Amino acid sequence: MSALPFSRISARLNALLAAIGLLAVAALTTPDISAQTGYLLQILLAGIWTVYGLQLIGTLIVQRTSGDSINLPALTIDVLAVLIPLAAFLLIGTRDRYLYCAIWLLKPLRHSTYFRLLGRVLANEARNLIGVTSIFGIVLFGTALAAYLIERDAQPDDFGSIPQAMWWAVATLTTTGYGDATPQSFAGRVLAGLVMMSGIGIFALWAGILATGFYQEVRRQDFVRNWQLVAAVPLFQKLGPAALIEVVRALRPRIVPAGTVICRKGETGEQMFFIVEGRVTVTTPSPVELGPGGFFGEMALVSGQPRSATVSAATEVSLLSLHAIDFQILSSSNTEIADIIHRTARERRDLLPKA
Ligand code: CMP
Repeated sequence: MSALPFSRISARLNALLAAIGLLAVAALTTPDISAQTGYLLQILLAGIWTVYGLQLIGTLIVQRTSGDSINLPALTIDVLAVLIPLAAFLLIGTRDRYLYCAIWLLKPLRHSTYFRLLGRVLANEARNLIGVTSIFGIVLFGTALAAYLIERDAQPDDFGSIPQAMWWAVATLTTTGYGDATPQSFAGRVLAGLVMMSGIGIFALWAGILATGFYQEVRRQDFVRNWQLVAAVPLFQKLGPAALIEVVRALRPRIVPAGTVICRKGETGEQMFFIVEGRVTVTTPSPVELGPGGFFGEMALVSGQPRSATVSAATEVSLLSLHAIDFQILSSSNTEIADIIHRTARERRDLLPKA
């Protein structure tokens, strides 16, 4: 059997296999499982391990023959997913060895771009996060100190030292509130109330920093991708940097599968489209094909009339769409592009059969 097809295991299948493996590991930890079911689950784990082993071999062969650069994080995950359960099987007693298959938790990460995104957000926001973490540390220590001073005589078991009071401070500041230690005095309860409120504030700050960081990073990535797409449309190559930035922000990328109707004759037109890659068919009396660099859907925007023809994807098409309002803004700020679009709309209208 060749290992090569296993190198192409999709992200979904990888995640599915890992999920099945982890469920089997979880089931094996339940005490009332029968010996026969336990045996079957271990065979299932061995099967998944074999698939992962073949995936590793296949990936190594592909990398050697293609000469592509190694995806080190993915390869490390593949190696760990095979070696750790194998080492556990060979070296560890029977009781716990299947537990090491829990390393497959890492498998879905081999395809994930979200962790790279998270890494960049953490790197970008490191200063702010460290700042808020410092505030958390200061408030935590101050709270433990105050609780120790207020409660140490009444409750020496829970507040007899600063480290002991720290446990209560963490549980209160994070608003977890296990309730195993609670202040008894009036002053202690006032302190608890203040700490809970500041805890909510600190976590809101953390959440706000991370949410803003994610938003900015995703927008930055979208901007870079849109920039590359816009640069591929000849019409926009006439624009200066400032106008180009405006266009990049206004255009929305879209991939349309072959055969999809993009706009239908008679509908109201709210956007026009620029073709980056692929071809579309305009169903006029003698159908027309438009390819990369072309645009369509401008007539409805220019005239305010319904769509003059149905346009569908002849192949898979990569499009950039421009909404009516952004079209107006672009037309007013860039007359050269507006002239080309208006002239094309006039020429196409003249070709339509007269009603
Ligand atoms: P609109 O009328 O908004 O929607 C259908 C689109 O098909 C139309 O805008 C034009 O962009 C395009 N179209 C119509 N007639 C032609 C043609 N003869 N050649 C190329 N494109 C056309």
